Amino acid sequence: MTLRHFIDTQDFTKQELLDLIALTRLIKEADKQGCTPKLLQDASLAMIFEEPSTRTRVSFEVAMTELGGHALYLKPGEIHLGVRESLADTARVLSRMVDVIMARTLKHETILGLAQAATVPVINGLTDYNHPTQVVCDVLTMMEHMPEGKRLEDLRVTFIGDATNVLSSLMLICTRLGMHFTHAAPKRYQPPETWVKMALENCKISGGTLRITEDPIEAVRDADFIYTDLWWWVGQEAEIPERSKAFMPRYQVNMDLFKHAPAHCKFMHCLPASRGVEVTDEVMDSERSIIFDQAENRLHTEKGILVWLVYPRLKRPSTELEAHYRGRIQAFLAERMGI
Ligand code: CP
Repeated sequence: MTLRHFIDTQDFTKQELLDLIALTRLIKEADKQGCTPKLLQDASLAMIFEEPSTRTRVSFEVAMTELGGHALYLKPGEIHLGVRESLADTARVLSRMVDVIMARTLKHETILGLAQAATVPVINGLTDYNHPTQVVCDVLTMMEHMPEGKRLEDLRVTFIGDATNVLSSLMLICTRLGMHFTHAAPKRYQPPETWVKMALENCKISGGTLRITEDPIEAVRDADFIYTDLWWWVGQEAEIPERSKAFMPRYQVNMDLFKHAPAHCKFMHCLPASRGVEVTDEVMDSERSIIFDQAENRLHTEKGILVWLVYPRLKRPSTELEAHYRGRIQAFLAERMGI
């Protein structure tokens, strides 16, 4: 069976991404009826985190439990990841013990290194470049909040703010799926040429569009969804004064900005959010906001991704084969240990 990782949505065709979302919706429907099938019975997931996490950590662990499997939380500094043991050796060892690895790594090269050496699927739980599991969840959430009369290919998504790892992933998945993506940010916080080139290539194939502007008001005029993310992250503390000056108040998502958007336009955020910075409380807690539907969908999406990658690889022995081995082991224990 071909080994596939989930490192970048660019590694998947539009049809594969749509199939993954359709699978996720089926599993979510089952979950809502209280009958999530135990498709990953006895499977194990190693979760490596080089950075803190709430949603990614909890959603993957709960997903494994509800699918009948088990997750191990390997927190920062807990394993020899590139320290006292090479990255490749860690990946090879884990591959002999677990069925799937999910990692949140500081550097994108680290997840690529893990995937290169691993012999089980590796899932990217966020790097300094991208956040693919988040954006599959985001598209699922948009589908569930589709404006009346629109199809996926009609959707207009506007991201306001810094060119973060979430921006790169959202821009790439939307353009790959034939959607219409706008990014509004000051010039120096717009995405690098390499990301733009990939998104434009996606548009050529999918019929989607890409617009990058400095004007947030123009950017939201036709938006079905307005999305934002933190203006700074761990390690960027020294840049806070400069970034605040560049983004505030023009790029804050507040009710004044929403006045320029269509009446049906919804608000999204990958979370965690800095309330009062990139978005106001008023927007976060308004009827426009679908942030908690989005957060919940991380759980359903992780289930979809895990089943997609792991289920086809699991051995499913017949009851006869299981009985055969149980019998042999019990006979051995009886003979040698008298039990
Ligand atoms: N959105 C997201 O990845 O959240 P966490 O950092 O809490 O995992």
